[in-house]
Amino acid sequence: MNDRREDAAAELARLRAAIEEHDYRYHVLDAPTISDAEYDALFDRLVALEETHPDLVTADSPTQRVGARPSRRFDEVRHAVPMLSLGKCTTTEELDDFDATVRRLLGSDDAVAYTCEPKIDGVAVRLVYEDGELVLGATRGDGETGEDITANVRTLRAIPLRLRGEGWPARLDVRGEIYMTRSDFEHYNVEAERAGEKPLVNPRNGAAGSLRQLDPAITAKRPLSIFCYGLGERIEGIDGQHAGLEALQAWGLRVNPATERVRGIEAVQRYVERTLAARSDLDYDIDGVVVKVDDLDDQELLGVRTRTPRWAIAFKPPAEEALTRVRAVDFQVGRTGAVTPVARLDPVFVGGVTVSNATLHNLDEIERLGLRVGDAVWIRRAGDVIPQVVRVDEDQRPDDTEPVRVPERCPVCDTPLERPEGEVVVRCPAKRTCPAQLVNGLIHFASRGAMDIDGLGEKVATQLVDGGHVEDYADLYALDVDTVAGLERMAEKSARNLVDAIEASKHRPLARVIFALGIREVGEATAAGLARHYRALAALMDADEDSLQEVADVGPVVAREIAEYFAQEENRGLVERLLAAGVDPEPPPEVDLDALPLAGQTWVLTGTLEALPRKEAKARLEALGAKVAGSVSKKTDQLVAGPGAGQKLEDAKKHDVPVLDEEAFLARLEELER
Ligand code: IVH
Repeated sequence: MNDRREDAAAELARLRAAIEEHDYRYHVLDAPTISDAEYDALFDRLVALEETHPDLVTADSPTQRVGARPSRRFDEVRHAVPMLSLGKCTTTEELDDFDATVRRLLGSDDAVAYTCEPKIDGVAVRLVYEDGELVLGATRGDGETGEDITANVRTLRAIPLRLRGEGWPARLDVRGEIYMTRSDFEHYNVEAERAGEKPLVNPRNGAAGSLRQLDPAITAKRPLSIFCYGLGERIEGIDGQHAGLEALQAWGLRVNPATERVRGIEAVQRYVERTLAARSDLDYDIDGVVVKVDDLDDQELLGVRTRTPRWAIAFKPPAEEALTRVRAVDFQVGRTGAVTPVARLDPVFVGGVTVSNATLHNLDEIERLGLRVGDAVWIRRAGDVIPQVVRVDEDQRPDDTEPVRVPERCPVCDTPLERPEGEVVVRCPAKRTCPAQLVNGLIHFASRGAMDIDGLGEKVATQLVDGGHVEDYADLYALDVDTVAGLERMAEKSARNLVDAIEASKHRPLARVIFALGIREVGEATAAGLARHYRALAALMDADEDSLQEVADVGPVVAREIAEYFAQEENRGLVERLLAAGVDPEPPPEVDLDALPLAGQTWVLTGTLEALPRKEAKARLEALGAKVAGSVSKKTDQLVAGPGAGQKLEDAKKHDVPVLDEEAFLARLEELER
């Protein structure tokens, strides 16, 4: 062997051993010790090196199989049709190359029809229905053999135990991703924190951990959901990926509404761009977009490599993790008094921006990370999400690190902090008498979705509080131009504008005023529901928990928060002082829903709408009184079908439902809105 070959052989052995070890920790122990980005880098290096030295590829190389062995705790399930993984790319050029290869292999110059789907960051599952009945739920395992988690899967309300509708085959093999929404994850952690239980680290870990419970009663308590994205076996009469998904949806399975069938790679590129740009608006985590050749005959022609099909690819945006050093850990006091540790970092470029602070969430998180001041840490920033510390690199720990010191008193108002037994959150109990809580409360009070007071940002709020001008939100309404003009960097004109903006905020809609109070768990949508229901602050203040739960979207947790908020004298006093200062919220208009032009009608949208995003089409229809449903039945009044419409169009024909194309739909909308 020459030297280079020997070096390569040695590196290959090292890489394989490392990947095997990380596969084991990730798949079997469910306790990874490196980030996905680091793992991918190892794997990519292995693939590249094996490509240069094909004669050094061994049968036991991680590239020759998928994932790791299943753990022994659940029964094993052989997947008759393997659960594959996906090849990935990170640039638009690579996506163009994928399309070029597909067309070359298919021997076609025509634009290829692709189905595009968000790549859900959850846990892959296989569901089998026999004679319409759920008989199996299984994990992917190594792709060939997974674990039987039927008992756990049955606890998910998003998964039907029996299929709906008709026309399903005697045996239906569905592939999908189980995940936890971000809001469910946050809610779960609020409750866990209150009950003194361990919080979940992130939604993906939450989903994975929940499905691995040996006791299905525990899984049942976890808020899990699913998006089905494929079929294991072909079904007679279904010729395309998108048609398959529409069939699944018709049978009562959950399919991602953001799925679209488009023609040609340019349309795919637009879908990818649009979907990744809107990523932070989604209530679930995605780690890319999956692009699949739609035609199932073409999929068969293209076939499968060892691990991945040639007819699909995952587009993943570039790395969002970077290594840097923690210089200090500070503690910040939020609007609700929660004291949050924040890591001060050596500035580092990650996810497209320079980051110098990262949240550490709570004390448990510091413990989980094993973080010390001075440590080398991996930082992650995905989309617009707040930067996080994902891992301490212990191999790079210097000798002079120090433990994180948790303060006993509020760093702002010096009140002794509270940490109820078993809870992970430390709180300053001083409420709005703590300047930090008052400043953050004021910023929220003045924010766009609340009282919308332009010019009242962090700097001004801090000066107003520090200068003793504002001790309570209601004091804003007593500010005069001279006082405001006396603040730093505040010209006479800006001062006047601010005072005018405060005055104008007296007549905001009731929903915004409720939101502005900053009651825990009450977001804009909940505030709007409360405003519609109670129509005045006085009525809301006196509502009991039972009455509160009659409001749409308000469950027991939110009802308790609201009742507790108004049980406190200082909060009732605040509302009274606001009203006395002249705040006069406008109750929502009373709409006669039955008088709307589309009252009582059910519409369905399908295919690609080019001029109008689907979300907007839905909102406009709803404003006209229509209900917008996801599937066509005999009760549907109207189907709107853009290019690429499949199963729903068939269903519409079957049920004699009238169909509009996009142009006719736009004309109809405009006519109705006049
Ligand atoms: S298709 C033959 N579609 O990504 C292709 N996978 O690396 C099989 N995933 O383990 C996968 N969303 O759990 C497909 N819309 C989607 C997906 C998706 C998430 C996961 C899946 C799989 C992994 C592939």
